[in-house]
Amino acid sequence: MELLPLWLCLGFHFLTVEWRNRSGNVMATSQGGCELLDGVADCRGQNLASVPSNLPPSSQTLLLDANPLKTLWNHSLQRYPLLESLSLHSCHLEHISRGAFQEQARLCSLALPDNSLSESYKETAAALHGLRGLRRLDLSGNSLTEDMAALMLQNLSSLESVSLARNTIMRLDDSVFEGLGRLRELDLQRNYIFEIEGGAFDGLPELRHLNLAYNNLPCIVDFALTQLRSLNVSYNVLEWFLASGGEATFELETLDLSHNRLLFFPLLPQCSKLHTLLLRDNNMGFYRDLYNTSSPQEMVAQFLFMDGNVTNISTVNLWEEFSSSDLSDLRFLDMSQNQFQYLPDGFLKKMPSLSHLNLNQNCLMTLHIREHEPPGALTELDLSQNQLSEVHLAPGLPGCLRSLRSFNLSSNQLLGVPTGLFADASNLATIDMSHNQISLCPRPGDLDPGGTPGCVDFRNVASLRSLSLEGCGLGALQDCSFQGMALTHLDLSGNWGLLNGSIAPLWDIAPTLQVLSLRNVGLSSGFKELDFSGFGNLRDLDLSGNALTSFPRFRGSLVLQTLDLRRNLLTALPQRAVSEQLMGSLRTIYLSQNPYDCCGVEDWGALQRLHTVADLAMVTCNLSSRIIRLTELPGGVPQVCKWERVDMGLLYLVLILPSCLTLLVACTVIFLTFRKPLLQVIKNRCHWSSIY
Ligand SMILES: *[C@@H]1O[C@H](CO)[C@@H](O)[C@H](O)[C@H]1NC(C)=O
Ligand SMILES: *[C@@H]1O[C@H](CO)[C@@H](O)[C@H](O)[C@H]1NC(C)=O
Ligand SMILES: *[C@@H]1O[C@H](CO)[C@@H](O)[C@H](O)[C@H]1NC(C)=O
Ligand SMILES: *[C@@H]1O[C@H](CO)[C@@H](O)[C@H](O)[C@H]1NC(C)=O
Ligand SMILES: *[C@@H]1O[C@H](CO)[C@@H](O)[C@H](O)[C@H]1NC(C)=O
Ligand SMILES: *[C@@H]1O[C@H](CO)[C@@H](O)[C@H](O)[C@H]1NC(C)=O
Ligand SMILES: *[C@@H]1O[C@H](CO)[C@@H](O)[C@H](O)[C@H]1NC(C)=O
Ligand SMILES: *[C@@H]1O[C@H](CO)[C@@H](O)[C@H](O)[C@H]1NC(C)=O
Ligand SMILES: *[C@@H]1O[C@H](CO)[C@@H](O)[C@H](O)[C@H]1NC(C)=O
Ligand SMILES: *[C@@H]1O[C@H](CO)[C@@H](O)[C@H](O)[C@H]1NC(C)=O
Repeated sequence: MELLPLWLCLGFHFLTVEWRNRSGNVMATSQGGCELLDGVADCRGQNLASVPSNLPPSSQTLLLDANPLKTLWNHSLQRYPLLESLSLHSCHLEHISRGAFQEQARLCSLALPDNSLSESYKETAAALHGLRGLRRLDLSGNSLTEDMAALMLQNLSSLESVSLARNTIMRLDDSVFEGLGRLRELDLQRNYIFEIEGGAFDGLPELRHLNLAYNNLPCIVDFALTQLRSLNVSYNVLEWFLASGGEATFELETLDLSHNRLLFFPLLPQCSKLHTLLLRDNNMGFYRDLYNTSSPQEMVAQFLFMDGNVTNISTVNLWEEFSSSDLSDLRFLDMSQNQFQYLPDGFLKKMPSLSHLNLNQNCLMTLHIREHEPPGALTELDLSQNQLSEVHLAPGLPGCLRSLRSFNLSSNQLLGVPTGLFADASNLATIDMSHNQISLCPRPGDLDPGGTPGCVDFRNVASLRSLSLEGCGLGALQDCSFQGMALTHLDLSGNWGLLNGSIAPLWDIAPTLQVLSLRNVGLSSGFKELDFSGFGNLRDLDLSGNALTSFPRFRGSLVLQTLDLRRNLLTALPQRAVSEQLMGSLRTIYLSQNPYDCCGVEDWGALQRLHTVADLAMVTCNLSSRIIRLTELPGGVPQVCKWERVDMGLLYLVLILPSCLTLLVACTVIFLTFRKPLLQVIKNRCHWSSIY
């Protein structure tokens, strides 16, 4: 009984939703090509040469994008006084009449991107000045210079968001954004800005988000926009980033300095809320260890700030660049694609909240794991493509990587990792150790407890789900290499000779494996066919680039979806029984680059009809001395082969029969003619005693 009201409610809700949707559809009438719905008139891409005059006067939103309007006249919008949002993207607009927005007192969002407003910018500026309530203005892609932009924005004090992206602005002085006291968001990306005068943003106390990406800024010094939450200066030519000294609290949370030419770690505010710092693709390094100096004078850089006749000197200690920065809230740090050869002592300690650290593509040679370094909160650590040859683990640090979930050590020069490093990381789910010349420790007991052993032990890392050991030069696997693990993804590709004819070493993880890659490992069918019957959860299996001569065996409740058998030595397609069983779940199978015998492809038709062969057009077969695409074979493949077989048999018969007959006749003639004397001669010379 209690359920009844609930059912009723649900039913009623359902009905209203249905009704609303249907009524909406009914309302969505079209008028002169425009869709009308809930006060929105959508006239995009209708090839209109003027603003339609027959839309409901109560329209609040008017979308006119991609119409060749060219000009907005005084009267163009006169009939729509309730307009709140107007979009004129790509309308070839060159001219906006002074009084075009006269009636639009309510307009709060105006989008004018990708037009030609630089043509008569003074008129346009005059038209904009009437918009006292405008909050969002998009002027991107209009070839505007800084003077034009300044004029257009003059006195639009209600603006909260402005985009000037993709224009031709080169310098910013303190007059451009004058009087925009409520501006929160400013997009200046993709201009040619090479200089920003001190004070250019001084009149913007509410500014929160500033995007200067894709400009030509050579440096940012004395950065003092304490109110800013996010600053994007990516894709410039920055060599320096230096926040103003002093104790002021910066609101800065996200700083993107990626794709620049920074040589030093940025000199960040002493007090900030920074949680995301992006430094990818610069030329940064730490240098103290490279210079063997003990005198502090040699470690400082002095910046001269000149403002009129005043010169200020700021001295920074380059070798301790990070030490004065406040990094305590930092969660995401991307330092990939730089020149870091080492991380100074205490560097990571300054970031207790760090959860993601990307050091991909640097020159790191050694990793030291100490107390709080890396910090305990770290969940993702990417050290791929460095020159790491050693990992040092300070003794007596149980659970030092306890939060770590993903650890990428791909493409380094590691031979092994310290005993227990992975075992202590109780949340570690993904390890990528591909392209290191490691070997797997033979038996747990063999380990040398001190130092870095020359092997890696993954046994009993129960949390691990995904492991890549591609191209590690692993020797033949031991039967217990994956003991105590519940892997779902395993990549063992490119380790030639790894399995020595049998997949027995994988049986420990067979029940859990979902994705298995055994590309280029030198598997051959050898003495018995490969049997994947115990792999009950396997979805994706890559066996390409091996030497299989027979189709692997799958039995039981199979969930296999993708199977790759390219570049093997298969001579026959999977038999009907096998393929039918497989096709239950299989969605994609790759079969090309195998030397199939054209006469053994009877099942081709059936396979083709299942639409699972992804490389159908590339499957070829060997027909005597030719290679033929299976798709090009005439309908009855077997007939061709039968004909070929019959043909060959006949040929042999035709060739051999006359010779035999001739020989027989010759022998008879000789026998009859010479009889005894010749026979005796032969017998004497060659001792053929038994033939005749
Ligand atoms: C309303 O209709 C739209 C498309 O016409 C559909 O995507 C949406 O899911 C529907 N909503 C409901 C609540 O049925
Ligand atoms: C448009 O209106 C403005 C005043 O709002 C007026 O000065 C101007 O002459 C008008 N333009 C045309 C073409 O009527
Ligand atoms: C902008 O406002 C200032 C003062 O509020 C005024 O003197 C000036 O004429 C205005 N400019 C325009 C173009 O409206
Ligand atoms: C900075 O701007 C670039 C270019 O628009 C963009 O790709 C990048 O995602 C932005 N960075 C952040 C942190 O949003
Ligand atoms: C660095 O200094 C130490 C002792 O001060 C000295 O032994 C070493 O050779 C120096 N290395 C370089 C590269 O100058
Ligand atoms: C120079 O320093 C003084 C005092 O520290 C400060 O008031 C002034 O704004 C600074 N000038 C520049 C251009 O940094
Ligand atoms: C700097 O210039 C201002 C005027 O621009 C002048 O009053 C002041 O005396 C000058 N200071 C120095 C140190 O020259
Ligand atoms: C590890 O890094 C390499 C190279 O940067 C990348 O190709 C690979 O996808 C990463 N592995 C994981 C598991 O993210
Ligand atoms: C490979 O297997 C064969 C036969 O099972 C065995 O004799 C040989 O020792 C194995 N090789 C290695 C390296 O385990
Ligand atoms: C047929 O397949 C064999 C491999 O079994 C290969 O060596 C040979 O080159 C192929 N024949 C032709 C004509 O391609």
